[in-house]
Amino acid sequence: MVIEREQDVTAAALAAMQRTSDPRLREIMVSLVKHLHGFVRDVRLTEAEFRDACAILIELGKLSSDTHNEAVLMAGSLGVSSLVCLLNNGNQGNAETDQSLLGPFWRLNSPRVENGGSIVRSETPGPALFVNGRVVDKAGHPIAGAEVDVWHASPVGFYENQDPSQVDMNLRGKFKTDREGRFSFRSVMMAGYPIPTDGLVGRLLRVQNRHPYRPAHLHALIFKPGFKVLISQVYDPADPHIDSDAQFGVTKTLLGNFVRHDESHPAERDVSPPWYSLDHVYRMEPGEAVLPRPPIK
Ligand SMILES: [Fe+2]
Repeated sequence: MVIEREQDVTAAALAAMQRTSDPRLREIMVSLVKHLHGFVRDVRLTEAEFRDACAILIELGKLSSDTHNEAVLMAGSLGVSSLVCLLNNGNQGNAETDQSLLGPFWRLNSPRVENGGSIVRSETPGPALFVNGRVVDKAGHPIAGAEVDVWHASPVGFYENQDPSQVDMNLRGKFKTDREGRFSFRSVMMAGYPIPTDGLVGRLLRVQNRHPYRPAHLHALIFKPGFKVLISQVYDPADPHIDSDAQFGVTKTLLGNFVRHDESHPAERDVSPPWYSLDHVYRMEPGEAVLPRPPIK
């Protein structure tokens, strides 16, 4: 097709997209070109802005490595990760779901820990946290033998892979639910943290006068054949950034029952107040148990 007017290029590109052999990929590419061309027209993208856009995409890749994923961070900062999650879970966005963002810090092989054990592997000052979790199906029946991977930031807001003062796999562990679907562990109370702001995402937040904080949260990835892998985060409602998460991940269902205790712990002598507890029920939806690709190694 020889293009005569600006409108013609959209028709030509759409016709090319229509030749995609895989039907789903065809649907995606046709819609992408439709919206991309619509967006370019909508903002009347200048040539300089277009060159900037290409440079930004290249930089997203260059800033990503085995230990950092700027693309995931950007998707989160634009609300896209949260939208994808909400559309694909909870009866396709029509019901509450325990699913949440995977985030950029899940690692595949966290060490196995017995229920009741600790995931504090190197000295990590901060208030103790005792987590009692329960994994159930949609009807509320316990799911026994589920593998529960947990990970969280330290009391000063760093994951172990970001912090040379923590040993490898600190504040990470993998548990198996018992017959009642329960798992439990001891850790330290995590803090909210700023997402990395030394790259493109940081530039975006600065030009929008946005703070970079995520409210304190506990990540979990729960695996059991017959159920969709549950990727969840439980948030601390007392966190000052609970209603302004830089990654748009906080939903009502995911507000956790974090309780601060100012009395001595009834059983653990080495725990001094304040200490925290979290009791939480994780609901899995039926589906295929497919693990996501780890964002870092
Ligand atoms: Fe996180």
